[in-house]
Amino acid sequence: MIVLGIETTCDETAAAVVERFEDDRGRILSNVVLSQVSEHAAYGGVVPEIAARAHVEALDIIIANAMAQAGCRYDTIDGVAAAAGPGLIGGVIVGLTTAKAIALVRNKPLIAVNHLEAHALTARLTDNTPFPYCLFLASGGHTQTVAVRGVGDYVRLGTTQDDAIGEAFDKTAKLLGLGYPGGPLVEKEAVRGDPTRFTLPRPMHGRKDADFSLSGLKTALRLEAERIAPLSDQDVADLCASFQQAIVDVVYDRLRAGLMTFRTRFGSPTALVAAGGVAANQAIRKVLNRLAFEVGITLVAPPLELCTDNGAMIAWAGCERLALGLTDSLDVAPRARWPLDEIAAAEGARRRTAAYK
Ligand code: KG4
Ligand code: ZN
Repeated sequence: MIVLGIETTCDETAAAVVERFEDDRGRILSNVVLSQVSEHAAYGGVVPEIAARAHVEALDIIIANAMAQAGCRYDTIDGVAAAAGPGLIGGVIVGLTTAKAIALVRNKPLIAVNHLEAHALTARLTDNTPFPYCLFLASGGHTQTVAVRGVGDYVRLGTTQDDAIGEAFDKTAKLLGLGYPGGPLVEKEAVRGDPTRFTLPRPMHGRKDADFSLSGLKTALRLEAERIAPLSDQDVADLCASFQQAIVDVVYDRLRAGLMTFRTRFGSPTALVAAGGVAANQAIRKVLNRLAFEVGITLVAPPLELCTDNGAMIAWAGCERLALGLTDSLDVAPRARWPLDEIAAAEGARRRTAAYK
């Protein structure tokens, strides 16, 4: 089975072709990603209107490149998948409408993929990870711990009550004048900084639930920076190191609580799976490894280019859904907001309806 996948929910215009074999294994035939980072950098964050326009301008050629690199023609693919949300609605409309047009003209099934579900299923493409596993998704827009029990069967165990982790990194970088996107820049500064110089809070520490809260940490960092301003290069490095250490401690504590909840509710997970741009952070990867080791499971961290937004994850989620006969009609709506648990509810309803018939 071969599926074309399209991703346009944020600031990456991406398309990919992925093949899924009978034994459940997958192979990426092409994976083309055009980042819009330079177009948003001057604003210190993604500007939705600029993103939507950039997707319109680039998507046709990105899809053509993905098809050419895969050596595929439209008559050799089995379906067209696009991220139908959650995300910036202008961009989602561009990707989903394009997928609908291809599906209609080429008479192929359409698969409207939830972007978070695609992150969640990537570990099955890269490592063939069996269900059920515990997903830690940390990106610029999301921070979630999820029990992934099957395709379309997700239970959110914890989420952030305010900022996402990537967002906290980006805001910290902006505050310290480092640029955008902030994560890699803060990580670079942190390497030469002293993580013990500033005492920053570890919000939610020790709570039984698995939720996160990061806005207090961000404010504490701002107050420290204001207190010692003007900042020297060493001050900036020390603030970054102290901030990153606080995040690492928070991830350890909150995810540990998430894994405990997983155990209690669903038994032992087969793996801890990392996804999202923040998983690129070496200090965070290290603490995830430590946690997985302590709990006695393996850490699956897909290669960097598959942790951040890409078309291959959408194509793969499309394959997984298509293999189960889960396709969508051409009037499926794009969604700015689309929590993972709503998929499970919809699927449950669909199955119940099918059984009733
Ligand atoms: O998954 P992603 O590419 O896009 C979405 O947000 O969906 O994640 C981007 C986020 C940004 O907030 C970026 O600052 C963060 O991931 N990020 C990092 C690192 N690399 C990217 N955060 C911390 N350390 C990094 N090395
Ligand atoms: Zn994402």
